[in-house]
Amino acid sequence: MEKTEKIEKNVWKLQDGYEIPQIGFGNYNSFGEEEINAVHWALEAGYRYIDSASCYKNEVEVGEAIRQFGGPREEIFLLSKLWPTDYEHAEAALMKTMKELGVDYLDVYLIHWPGTDETKRLHAYEQLLPLREKGYFRTLGVSNFQPDQMERLKEVFGEYPVINQMECHPSFQQREISDYCKAHEIQVIDYRPINRGAYAQDVKLQEIAAKYGKSVQQVVLRWHIEHGQVPIPKSANQGRIRENINIFDFSLTEEEIHFIDSMETGQRAGSDPFSYNG
Ligand SMILES: NC(=O)c1ccc[n+]([C@@H]2O[C@H](COP(=O)([O-])OP(=O)(O)OC[C@H]3O[C@@H](n4cnc5c(N)ncnc54)[C@H](OP(=O)(O)O)[C@@H]3O)[C@@H](O)[C@H]2O)c1
Repeated sequence: MEKTEKIEKNVWKLQDGYEIPQIGFGNYNSFGEEEINAVHWALEAGYRYIDSASCYKNEVEVGEAIRQFGGPREEIFLLSKLWPTDYEHAEAALMKTMKELGVDYLDVYLIHWPGTDETKRLHAYEQLLPLREKGYFRTLGVSNFQPDQMERLKEVFGEYPVINQMECHPSFQQREISDYCKAHEIQVIDYRPINRGAYAQDVKLQEIAAKYGKSVQQVVLRWHIEHGQVPIPKSANQGRIRENINIFDFSLTEEEIHFIDSMETGQRAGSDPFSYNG
């Protein structure tokens, strides 16, 4: 009962009527026992959105941890992504992902990168529409897309993606994209949300954290939620997994939010979607 209340409270409503938890659990770069334990600890700690992808090469472990945890499938919000080398055969890639995860539907399927080839990108989206109709996944979204690329989806298919997952943390916020997304009711999911711990030594963030009895990482994760976005921190450490979700008992002031907004440097940490083809 307590779990259900928590899920109901900390969600954002999507434009297609479904709900997404306000925080998710990242899964990049852990494998085997480490990954099974991490997902298990995440579910125990209260995360319900698990952020998976075929390219992380650990979907079997994610599925195993979900099975071991037990409980109804509907209590888990499971997202996976279509990798660029699979854009020509999206259905086969989706079936492989679902088989590895051991589920018969996903909550969300994303096109992982826009790539530089518009024809391939549009072809991938086109193949996914009937698969959504068949119920293999509920919500269709994209990742690393620019506004003009989302606008093109609307022109060609008559709909905006429901979600755009992108790099977002205090030093690289991509506000022009999140403003565009908000204007079109596209939910933004923020990856690399704590920039892998890069802000731990920031004195002003340490002051804010001390004020609330929280860690710098918790303050940064809370800041994502204050912006209406969904951070998906990754950790393989049980203590840090618990720490990262313990952000629903405080909120930041306008001034604190503006201070973190002012940390923007324009410095991307991950791959560049303008040139990356997978
Ligand atoms: N769509 C895309 O193209 C895309 C691209 C990149 C990432 N993602 C997704 O976003 C997720 C998160 O991004 P990310 O993994 O790159 O970066 P991140 O979540 O910002 O940082 C993860 C790193 O920070 C450490 N960490 C976690 N919590 C901490 C804490 N409380 N204090 C100190 N260190 C902490 C972790 O180490 P420990 O394990 O030792 O705690 C890990 O090395 C990924 O796992 C993946 O699911 C998506």
